Amino acid sequence: MTDLSTTYLGLNLKNPLVAAASPLSKHVDLVKQMEDAGISAVVMYSLFEEQITHESNALDYFLNRGSESFAEALTYFPEMESYNIGPESYLNLISKIKESVNIPVIGSLNGVSTGGWIDYAKKIEHAGADALELNIYYIPTNIKMGSKEIEDAQVELVAEVHKQINIPLTIKLSPYDSALPSFARRLCDAGADGLVLFNRFYQPDIDTETLEVIPSLQLSDSYDLRLPLRWTAILYGKVKADLALTSGVHNEKDVLKAMMAGANIVEITSEFLANGVKRAGEMLVGMENWMNEYEYKSVSQMRGSMSHKSVAEPAAFERANYMKALQSFDNKIG
Ligand SMILES: Cc1cc2nc3c(=O)[nH]c(=O)nc-3n(C[C@H](O)[C@H](O)[C@H](O)COP(=O)(O)O)c2cc1C
Repeated sequence: MTDLSTTYLGLNLKNPLVAAASPLSKHVDLVKQMEDAGISAVVMYSLFEEQITHESNALDYFLNRGSESFAEALTYFPEMESYNIGPESYLNLISKIKESVNIPVIGSLNGVSTGGWIDYAKKIEHAGADALELNIYYIPTNIKMGSKEIEDAQVELVAEVHKQINIPLTIKLSPYDSALPSFARRLCDAGADGLVLFNRFYQPDIDTETLEVIPSLQLSDSYDLRLPLRWTAILYGKVKADLALTSGVHNEKDVLKAMMAGANIVEITSEFLANGVKRAGEMLVGMENWMNEYEYKSVSQMRGSMSHKSVAEPAAFERANYMKALQSFDNKIG
């Protein structure tokens, strides 16, 4: 009997396949379908700081702080009325989903500043969420703001959110932070029980005809797994946090690699959006077959087996592998 169970944020999960934050959690029926297909937990789509601040009539202040371009700043945001449902409806949806399914439900907040909006962390807990994922989506565009200042602000935000709640807290990180291991350690000290690697940043394009920036979000493919895979392997065993890997998980091999790197769970969106939530069931069967063939009894047996934990000099190891990768092209050019 193959044991696919895992733990994440103190939750006992029947397998490592978790639905990442996405529009799939906007409807109770879809969450039920995902549960039926075999996923072990669901992360709700995010409630944004801007939505909450808007609702409390404080968005004017938030956007206008120290600037004279309020009217322009407002146009950056989608119509708040049409962008997702409002904060209160979001809480109601969590409660409804909790009543309808047996798997854990993880709430998701997306924000950057400390302030009244983080009360919603507590409200999400009271709505019945089993844990909270905080997505700190931030692109540092200010030339005067250094990495320490940015990290300090994020550590403070995590500490403030942590103070609000009694459920576990996990932080969805950017892959672009400098000195990630040290930053990850600081987040854990501030109260993070888990880290989600990584936030998938949308990559804007330029329309050369209309001269407009097009904010498009492309679905991932398995190649996108490489970035979180490396960092999961680096952080495994170094931080006091469970690790969730998200970006580029499309098949059972991707899940197995994530476990070997050291992840407790994987969070999936693109594969379910592209090929349907039934893919969860197929991936679970594929995992079991592979584990049987290679005589793995459990997921926990393979966790971290390919991590950096046993590498004496990880930085030297990374440089050596880079050199090997470059060298592999030498033969190809004769
Ligand atoms: C359409 C769409 C909506 C998403 N919405 C959210 C969101 O509300 N909050 C969030 O933290 N991540 C969101 N994500 C990111 C996903 O949760 C996930 O981390 C990312 O897509 C990488 O996983 P994947 O490679 O399986 O797609 C969204 C992704 C997509 C494609």
